[in-house]
Amino acid sequence: MQPTHTRLDHFDGARTTDNAPLLEVKDVKTHFFTDEGIVKAVDGVNLSLKRGQTLCVVGESGCGKSVTARSILRIVPPPGKIVSGEIIFRQRNGESIDLVGMNPKGREIRNIRGGEISMIFQEPMSSLSPVHTIGSQIMEAILLHLPVSKQEARKRAISMLDLVGIPRPSEQLEAYSFELSGGMRQRAMIAIALACEPQLLIADEPTTALDVTTQANILDLIRELQQDSGMSVLFITHDLGVVAEIADEVVVMYLGRDVESGEVDAIFHDPKHPYTRALLQSIPRYDSRENKRLYSIKGTVPHPFDRPTGCPFHPRCDDFIAGQCNNIDPHRHSVSQSHSVRCLLYAPAETHNP
Ligand SMILES: Nc1ncnc2c1ncn2[C@@H]1O[C@H](COP(=O)(O)OP(=O)(O)OP(=O)(O)O)[C@@H](O)[C@H]1O
Ligand code: SF4
Ligand SMILES: [Mg+2]
Repeated sequence: MQPTHTRLDHFDGARTTDNAPLLEVKDVKTHFFTDEGIVKAVDGVNLSLKRGQTLCVVGESGCGKSVTARSILRIVPPPGKIVSGEIIFRQRNGESIDLVGMNPKGREIRNIRGGEISMIFQEPMSSLSPVHTIGSQIMEAILLHLPVSKQEARKRAISMLDLVGIPRPSEQLEAYSFELSGGMRQRAMIAIALACEPQLLIADEPTTALDVTTQANILDLIRELQQDSGMSVLFITHDLGVVAEIADEVVVMYLGRDVESGEVDAIFHDPKHPYTRALLQSIPRYDSRENKRLYSIKGTVPHPFDRPTGCPFHPRCDDFIAGQCNNIDPHRHSVSQSHSVRCLLYAPAETHNP
């Protein structure tokens, strides 16, 4: 189905000519203090997202993508806690704030959540209420963040459902989430997320549970809405095909860290980190003439309580340097102005002494 949305006239709140990053995540660590021990789910992640751009975060299951997203919105569930780092967000009024310093239950962060930063979750069923209609959930978000009457909120809710390509929007306003198909539920969640014109949309694997056609439609929809509104998108996925299609910039994560980041062309055509190279070799190419077996990364992601010493990727790395990689935890090194990597192959010689 093609999105048949109409553009909202005032849906351009995030448009700006300012080139400063909208979001900067600096060395954030989010740990879970469980009875069995500390799970370092996010252990020093860095990312920077410009206005109007799409940043894709990729990495294997369990590498900390969702916990990074939840850290930004300050909705990490207990026993999780941000233990260090900064998350600098430029508000609509031009002021920069550190989201880490905010009370996660306070009014300030609640105004930002849904108002300036919205999130589409990995599982739509768990984030949509089963006991409220779709309409009342969108209207609630609108009334919470925009100075409009109930009637105006209803009108806007209908426009939002239309915008995301839900047919007969005024009828569907009365529907419950369980009455909708997977694709329509995902669209309803996007409608709620976009209802207040966020500056930043965080989309956590928004298409994983959907069939290929619906997936393509949802991606088209997010792209169109982004072009119309100028919002930034932080898109989490493990699908490199999707990354190639939508990303401006890419951050590759491994065991809770950014191991490589750069512009999408650099990541795909000149990947530096052995993990990124392995990930790229493991995607099927439709134009491949050789009957080659797909590469699979040797070994498995280590157990969270069993973090390797030195470079966290060393037990799986084909370029492992004995005595170095198992002892030295690599810092981020710039290989060009906008491309950085955490790997000793690119580290200045002096850092090679443990
Ligand atoms: N509530 C929790 N308690 C303890 N550990 C948790 C909790 N939530 C997440 N973790 C751990 O944090 C790590 C990162 O999880 P996260 O959900 O961010 O992974 P992900 O990259 O989003 O994976 P996926 O691709 O499967 O969604 C995992 O080891 C996970 O087990
Ligand atoms: S530091 Fe060593 S083990 Fe880690 S990715 Fe680079 S070469 Fe591989
Ligand atoms: Mg996840």
